[in-house]
Amino acid sequence: MSDKKRILVTSALPYANGPLHLGHLAGAYLTPDLYVRYKRLKEDDVLFICGSDEHGVPITIAAEKEGVSPQDIVDRYHEMNKKVFEEFGITFDYYGRTSSKTHRETSQEFFKTLYDKGFFKKKTEEQLYDPTSDMFLPDRYVKGTCPNCGYEEAYGDQCENCGTSLSPTELKNPKSALSGETPELKKTEHWYMPLGEVQPELEKWIDSRENWKPNVMGQVKSWLNDGLADRAATRDLKWGVPVPLDEAEGKVLYVWFDAPIGYISATKEWAMEKGNSDEWKTYWQDNDTELYHFIGKDNIVFHCIMFPVVLMEHGDYVLPKNVPANEFLNLEGKKLSTSRGWAVWLHEYLEDFEPDLLRYALGVTLPESKDSDFSWKDFQNRVNGELADVLGNFVFRALSFTQKFAGGKIPKLIEPSDLDKETLSAITEQKQKITQAYENFRFKEAINETMQLARIGNRYFTETEPWRTRKSEPLKCGNTLHVSLQITAALALLFEPVLPAKMKTLRAQLGINEGFSWNDINSSILPDDESVKQGEILFTKIEDEEIDHQLQKLKDRAEAADSTPDVPELKENIDFGDFMKLDLRAGKVLTAQKIEKSNKLIKLEVDIGLEQRTIVSGIANDFDAENLPGQKVVVVANLAPKKLMGVESQGMILMAEDPEGNLKFAETDAEAGSPIT
Ligand code: MF3
Ligand code: ZN
Repeated sequence: MSDKKRILVTSALPYANGPLHLGHLAGAYLTPDLYVRYKRLKEDDVLFICGSDEHGVPITIAAEKEGVSPQDIVDRYHEMNKKVFEEFGITFDYYGRTSSKTHRETSQEFFKTLYDKGFFKKKTEEQLYDPTSDMFLPDRYVKGTCPNCGYEEAYGDQCENCGTSLSPTELKNPKSALSGETPELKKTEHWYMPLGEVQPELEKWIDSRENWKPNVMGQVKSWLNDGLADRAATRDLKWGVPVPLDEAEGKVLYVWFDAPIGYISATKEWAMEKGNSDEWKTYWQDNDTELYHFIGKDNIVFHCIMFPVVLMEHGDYVLPKNVPANEFLNLEGKKLSTSRGWAVWLHEYLEDFEPDLLRYALGVTLPESKDSDFSWKDFQNRVNGELADVLGNFVFRALSFTQKFAGGKIPKLIEPSDLDKETLSAITEQKQKITQAYENFRFKEAINETMQLARIGNRYFTETEPWRTRKSEPLKCGNTLHVSLQITAALALLFEPVLPAKMKTLRAQLGINEGFSWNDINSSILPDDESVKQGEILFTKIEDEEIDHQLQKLKDRAEAADSTPDVPELKENIDFGDFMKLDLRAGKVLTAQKIEKSNKLIKLEVDIGLEQRTIVSGIANDFDAENLPGQKVVVVANLAPKKLMGVESQGMILMAEDPEGNLKFAETDAEAGSPIT
């Protein structure tokens, strides 16, 4: 009997509204790739599906910010994100996009089927509307205070601080993201999914799920305990899949209704491209398929409640066997934030380092069961202390010794010692642990147990001292090399999911052909007397300067992102008449003298054309008096005189204060005395 399984793996479709960063990779893309690569080695029938989420408010807001069309935005980021995934070795079988024709048809068919079954509830409700922009404000078009945790920047669909899913009218103190105005309420019609009505059925299904992660099950249970509410499947927006009803002119499907269906449309396109357009059905409609959705924790409700309900109501579809969601990744101890510049962009990472290094470093710090932190220092330590010192060093020693002292051929194992045998058996022991870990979505553990085999090898190599035995006891030396090379070979296969590019290089050195499988991993992968090649160094160490450079880059960007909000708000409008009362004149400093008893004040003699004025100015913190003669200035010439430190000041010099609090002169090249209007 064949125990080959059919496995369908999906990764959350990232919004094509910006480039991808570390948090994306750690959340929903690295783990499924590890899983899929492992399953492929096990020779299961695996299909790995992803694509761009190209609808919804995140897209239109990005387009508005840049003043381009939503299509321009998604075209740009679809290509960019697809490419960066490839460069990181994320091996999707198909990367679709939700603006495709197949997707429009598929999601409309879903809506229509549910509609015909009488699933939706049509409701007329008051929703937030921005009269200035003449538009309803769904989802992220409104910001306000979260009713749950008080976070002031919560969106109309979700609070990113506490994870609560919201509807716009629940926000306290709502503001339009378009105009900044407080929205009004206006009536509109929408089609709702009555999730409460199907809750019993859904709960039965949830209770039948096995081995779900506690962080995922916990969130789902809490939703169910609160009782599910109706959720709109449509929106008043221009960008999206048109609702396939005559009476819904001008409305589109809610992005969270259409996006998960994108997994199905992408599978259809994959099948068409393969030339067997019905093949998608085996993956989505045959009950033997195991479906897994890999996502970040903010997507849990959609994948564990909403989409399963849609699939159930439609009928004929497979429901997920597990949804191994990750928690969030922080960066250098702080929450990742693209708007605050606190992110590491994947395409920028690739300018400086190899993808495998990040796959490993992120893999061992994944936010599997709770939020975790990525720091550049830790990245360096993992690369230098584990990849280079343990794995790289061991492999290099095994291969270079074989080259130098065994003619580059794998020595036979002759009268092995207990230690030799024990060490060899570590291969199958570790393999078992790694297998168990992968099967249970414990990826950190899988990677650590893989590295553990390299540690065992390294320790064994040191203990058996082949540099000593090679003269006195050549058989022993041969055994050390035999055992070490078998471990190296096992590592070249066991590490394939984590370090695909590096292990490919290593397998070439060992002469292991592609097309091997997980079942081939045992203590005699390499045949006796075969040749192996001298190993080139697999991992070079990362210098402190390279890490400092990354930290600096992060800091600079955060500062750049930070400077804008420091500019003070604009003051209220004034009448033109009020403005015309001001007499502003071009002037030139003649002499300047610090007022001794004061810290800040400088006494200036200023030429304003018609006359010379004495002006006292609080600029001593920013300027030395001796540098001021000759400085061009703008003077408020009709300000009532005022005594400062016993000196009468006959006017005021205009200064600008930059975000750092430094004073700069407002200057003009005009002749002293020229009026400024
Ligand atoms: N674009 C969504 C996000 O980034 C994820 C969509 S997953 C899908 O949060 F299932 F809807 F496709
Ligand atoms: Zn909140």
